[in-house]
Amino acid sequence: MAIGENISGIPKYVYIPASDFLRHCIVVGTTGSGKTTTASIIASQLSDYGAVIIVDWYGEYGKLLSNAEVVVPNGYIPIPVPGGVDDIVSIFEEVLELSPAQSYILQRVIEAYKPRTLAELVDYIETYPTEAKWVIEAKHALLRRISVLVSKEKIFSIDNYRLFQLLRPKRPLIIDISYIRNIVLKRLAALALLKAIEVVKSHDKIEDRVFIVIEESHNVISLGKSLIPRMLSEVRKLGVGIMLVTQSPTVLGHAVIMNCNVRVVHSLKSRDDIELISRSVGLPRELTEVVPRLGVGVAVVDSPSLMSPELVRVRYIK
Ligand SMILES: Nc1ncnc2c1ncn2[C@@H]1O[C@H](COP(=O)(O)OP(=O)(O)O)[C@@H](O)[C@H]1O
Ligand SMILES: [Mg+2]
Repeated sequence: MAIGENISGIPKYVYIPASDFLRHCIVVGTTGSGKTTTASIIASQLSDYGAVIIVDWYGEYGKLLSNAEVVVPNGYIPIPVPGGVDDIVSIFEEVLELSPAQSYILQRVIEAYKPRTLAELVDYIETYPTEAKWVIEAKHALLRRISVLVSKEKIFSIDNYRLFQLLRPKRPLIIDISYIRNIVLKRLAALALLKAIEVVKSHDKIEDRVFIVIEESHNVISLGKSLIPRMLSEVRKLGVGIMLVTQSPTVLGHAVIMNCNVRVVHSLKSRDDIELISRSVGLPRELTEVVPRLGVGVAVVDSPSLMSPELVRVRYIK
C-alpha cells in the first residue's frame, strides 16, 4: 500500500505491505498534526485487504471516507458486549476500575444468572445475597457504577453481534461513538467493541482479515492493568490488526508501542513523548530532532518492511 511520498532523498512513493498492519500500528502526534487524516488514508487503503472497523471517538471519519458505512449504535444496532464471564468481568474491571470485592460479586452474578442485558445484570446484582458487611458495601458500589451505564444509554447489548453483519468488503465500517458524552461509556464502548471483534473473529464468523482503528486510544487504555496490551499480542494470530491513534504516547507506554510494528510519528512537542517514541522506535538522532518541527501531514514512518525510518508526506495515492 502506498501511504505517501518521501521528502528526503530521491522522490518516491513509500509502500508498506498490508500484512505489516496485522502486527499493529501506532499513529502519534499533537492535535492538528495530521493523525486522523493519516489514519483515514491508511484505513481506506487497508479496506482493499480486509474488513476495516473504525471506533470513531469524535465522529470525524464519515467526512474523510466517502465510501464508508457510518453506524450510530442504538437499541436496534447495539454495541456488543461479549457475554463470556471472563470477558465481561475484565471489560468492567477495566472501565469501571472495580475493586477485587466488586469484581468477585460481578463474577458470581454473571456465572449464576447469565444476564443478557445490562438491565438484567443490574437486577441480578440487586438480588445478590448480602450475608457479610463487605458484601453490602461492595455490592452497592458496584450497583452505583453499573446502573449509570444502564440508565443513560440503551446502546449496549450482551452477546448481540448484529453490528458486524454490516461489514462489507472494500467498505470501512465507522462506529460513531461521538455522541456518547460520558467518558466511562465511551471507554466501555471502545473496549467492548475490541473484545467483541476478538470473540467473533476467533469463532471464524468474519473470514477476512480485520483492521481496527481506535481514535483517542490513550482514553481507552488505562494506566494500570489493561486489556489492550494483552489483546495486542493475542489477536495477531487471529488475523486482526489494531491501529492506535493518540496524542499521548506516554499514556500508552513503552510496552504497547513496542507491540506496534508500524509506527507513524507526526509532530510531537512534549519532550517526554519525543524521548519515549525515539527510544521505542529506535530513531536515529537526526530524525528525533526533526519530530517537533514536522509540518502538518508529514511523519516519520517505520515498519518492519522498510530498510530504515522514512520521512513521509502522507497523502492518498490511488
Ligand atoms: N496529509 C495531509 N495533507 C493535507 N492536509 C492535511 C494532512 N493531514 C492533515 N491535514 C489537515 O490538517 C488539519 C488537521 O488534521 P487532522 O488529521 O485532523 O489532525 P489530528 O488528528 O492530528 O488532530 C486538517 O484540516 C487536515 O485537513
Ligand atoms: Mg484527530
